[in-house]
Amino acid sequence: MGTADIVIDPVRIAAIRRELTANGKKKKAPRFRSLAQHESTICDCLKCPLGSTRTNFVYGVGNPGANLLFIGEAPGREEDLQGYPFVGRAGQLLDKILAAIQFSREDVYIANILKCRPPGNRDPQPDEMQMCMPYLLEQVRIIRPKIICALGRISAQALMQTTTPLGKLRRKWHNYHGIPFFVTYHPAALLRFPAYKRDVWEDMQMLRAKYDELARE
Ligand code: URA
Repeated sequence: MGTADIVIDPVRIAAIRRELTANGKKKKAPRFRSLAQHESTICDCLKCPLGSTRTNFVYGVGNPGANLLFIGEAPGREEDLQGYPFVGRAGQLLDKILAAIQFSREDVYIANILKCRPPGNRDPQPDEMQMCMPYLLEQVRIIRPKIICALGRISAQALMQTTTPLGKLRRKWHNYHGIPFFVTYHPAALLRFPAYKRDVWEDMQMLRAKYDELARE
């Protein structure tokens, strides 16, 4: 390739400049004192194309001091319209799952891998997840949950950086940045395949037992 073939992308160069300090070192991501402060700083995000198709940025909902953090995939239509995670049919089922282990939304925190809805509810793409992940990591840092539970394959695989099937990730405790990490089916999968209900019930018993064990420590 000759020099005439080199394409200079000014948008990419501006993005690289924003990531570097004056002496060329990579800037540290800013740290926030509260979820509210973090949300208000990032809620106008346009880092990926989903920013321009969303109705609302869906940051997360629940108790900022929760010991239990649930992480879903991405906002769907209802979530995009209302600005909160899990408010559609899958969300109503999630509320019932929580109630089955004596939790309400006020006891836990609920967030997603992506903060903006992928058009037509398609699967999140790897670059979208990569760009959105620092937001979730900051949420985890601020909340400092004692347990994280991934809802569904996409969330579990993205967080664990694996392609292992969901069935092999369930029913055991993993470690996510030092935090006990658990995986279960996405509530939307339960709506499609009610036969998974028994498995989720068993998962929730394991989750609750660990929660109670950590609360006693
Ligand atoms: N599915 C998700 O993964 N997250 C939501 O917020 C809604 C549906």
